[in-house]
Amino acid sequence: MKTYRVAIVGLGRMGSTLDQSIASASRASQRLEVVAGAETIPERRAAFREKWGIEAVYEDYQEMIEKEKPDLVGVCTTATGLPKPGNRAPSPNFRDDSHADIAVHAANAGVPMLFVEKAISCSVRKADAVLEACRKHGTVLNTGVLRRFSRRYKMIRELIERGDIGEPQAAVVYGAASLMHVHIHWMDTVSYLLGDPQIAAVRGDLLPRDLKIVGNGLEVDPQATFQIAFANGIEAWSVPVGGREYEVVGTEGTVRSMRDGAAVTFRKTNTTEGWPLQWEGELFPEESPVDTVVSCLDDLVDSYESGRPSLGNIEVTHHITEACITVAESHRQGGTWIQLPMANRDLYVFHV
Ligand SMILES: NC(=O)c1ccc[n+]([C@@H]2O[C@H](COP(=O)([O-])OP(=O)(O)OC[C@H]3O[C@@H](n4cnc5c(N)ncnc54)[C@H](O)[C@@H]3O)[C@@H](O)[C@H]2O)c1
Repeated sequence: MKTYRVAIVGLGRMGSTLDQSIASASRASQRLEVVAGAETIPERRAAFREKWGIEAVYEDYQEMIEKEKPDLVGVCTTATGLPKPGNRAPSPNFRDDSHADIAVHAANAGVPMLFVEKAISCSVRKADAVLEACRKHGTVLNTGVLRRFSRRYKMIRELIERGDIGEPQAAVVYGAASLMHVHIHWMDTVSYLLGDPQIAAVRGDLLPRDLKIVGNGLEVDPQATFQIAFANGIEAWSVPVGGREYEVVGTEGTVRSMRDGAAVTFRKTNTTEGWPLQWEGELFPEESPVDTVVSCLDDLVDSYESGRPSLGNIEVTHHITEACITVAESHRQGGTWIQLPMANRDLYVFHV
């Protein structure tokens, strides 16, 4: 079985030091081998070299890609490349977009597989550039919206696909969080659970509701709520309270995930049978955070080898990134519904 060479850009938490880092997941995968890392901070290069026993460390990621010719690049910088905490743009016209720029460079350099941390861009314009580069070179991409790669969420998607809740009518996400850092996960997960239907229109509010967008950019990643109208008639909402739970309501039942998929309730409407049904045992799989990252990277390899689209392929990732940024555009226009594709492609939302 062939193994593929992985190079990582950004050797911080998601690149190297977290249990579920790309370095750690690549080690855990049967199909991948980490061969190099690029990082602008010298101490982090040294720590990566020591932790993983890898000599090929670079300050310049472009030089790394040119010299190492990796099969897979993990883009694990912050979204703009600013060091953490870095949770505010340094100026109103700051437009850096590190995830997107590195992804475009890697695709254009001929790297066939990309893992790009979420969100893949700070504007739809830059998401377009990633889409175009991946289409042009046939690059296979997944991004860090990891519930899409979780066995637990897969079970819920399969339950919905089987028709156990009848025809899905609506999805709700409960929780308060920022738009690009967290709502991108929620929108992606809702889309995934519903089978990734086309999104027709989006509306939403940034919080506080009197927040003004000046100069077509946001210097901080705002709190938000969203509404999505899918082309198939299903609607989705986020409600800014509660513990990050996902609920899908159908004509015959409801399924709700809690504690990040560790618990699920499922009930049929108009019957007491099986209510509430708590899944246990094999229907309720143990899953460590690194498992989902391994599954995300292995999905890239399988997609590359088989030619099927990756689970978080660039078309779906671009669509959801656009929907997420469109929440800010809706807010800018007073909370109105905005049809996709949205016109204001340069609207910039800073995030970490
Ligand atoms: N999907 C998830 O569940 C998950 C979890 C954690 C972090 N993240 C995301 O991962 C990204 C990274 O977060 P983190 O916590 O690992 O940040 P971090 O600050 O720990 O690491 C980022 C590293 O990238 C380096 N860097 C920046 N620009 C660079 C460049 N041009 N070349 C080389 N290195 C560069 C920085 O010096 C830093 O060491 C963020 O976008 C964050 O939202 C996602």
